[in-house]
Amino acid sequence: MKAIGVLTSGGDAPGMNAAIRAVVRSGIYNNIKIMGIQRGYNGLINGDIKEMDLSSVADIIHRGGTMLKTARSEEFRTEEGRKKALNVLKVFGIEGLVVIGGDGSFAGAGMLSEAGIKTIGIPGTIDNDLAYTDYTIGFDTTVNTVLDAISKIRDTSTSHGRASIVEVMGRHCGDIALYAGLAGGAESIIVPEESFEIDEVCKKLIQGRSRGKLHSIIMLSEGVGNAFELGKEIEDVTGIETKVTVLGHIQRGGNPSAFDRILASKMGAYAVELLMKGQSSSVIGMKHNQLMDMDIHEALAVEKKFDKDMYALTKILSI
Ligand code: F6P
Repeated sequence: MKAIGVLTSGGDAPGMNAAIRAVVRSGIYNNIKIMGIQRGYNGLINGDIKEMDLSSVADIIHRGGTMLKTARSEEFRTEEGRKKALNVLKVFGIEGLVVIGGDGSFAGAGMLSEAGIKTIGIPGTIDNDLAYTDYTIGFDTTVNTVLDAISKIRDTSTSHGRASIVEVMGRHCGDIALYAGLAGGAESIIVPEESFEIDEVCKKLIQGRSRGKLHSIIMLSEGVGNAFELGKEIEDVTGIETKVTVLGHIQRGGNPSAFDRILASKMGAYAVELLMKGQSSSVIGMKHNQLMDMDIHEALAVEKKFDKDMYALTKILSI
């Protein structure tokens, strides 16, 4: 293999830069040209591509975001867009492609592999919603960012004797709320995977107050319900002043954690190794602390299992 392209696509995630660095450096180490594709599939369609050298990825391992920029490409969803992309890959002599992103980005990589381009996917999304892998790049950093926010909210919440609803990202996956909620000692964790009773949430708040508790944190995954309406309802039922913090895009930024940098570095180098072996249409994951790879389509078909044991533990520890 003479030239490999690398792109980041979909929502950015801390650690994507470390993955790009690993692809570039291990490619160059193996005498392979690495071509950086800007703004995901949009840059591929438009030929926004430059060869990368060792210094182009210097000083990025610790930075959040993605130095290649990213996009959610509408044009790539069309057959015409994909034809343009295939033509550009041919013109630039790119035989293998590393796609760093989430499920939508992987679906795009799958289509290119069917058209004969060797593709490898690296899971980069804060949501941790790819079922075939235990962790996606960015998730650990985001959980730590949320945890830091919870600690700060807890300070002010205690001072005022308030309850706080903290809304976090995750799309249809409650992992960010679950992990940050367990680590942050949340009273209640409301996620899309589990039904919840508002009465149960209120009962816990009242019980906590009656034994002298001054703060209460309620984790809420985006999309489960309106955080402000929920806050009003809780306040009406309990009489406890309830504030809402929607953390938003702060969760996507920041320096990647050591875990994410290591995960990204291992996955980036493994992607180059797989392409050198001629492998295609695969995604890389981490299962039981071991790097693994799997067919893209099979991986996308694996159903995400919510960690019910961990969820049950949060209930026991927050009585
Ligand atoms: O998939 C990552 C994610 O951050 C989700 O958690 C969130 O729902 C979405 O992206 C937000 O996307 P955007 O940055 O396009 O608003």
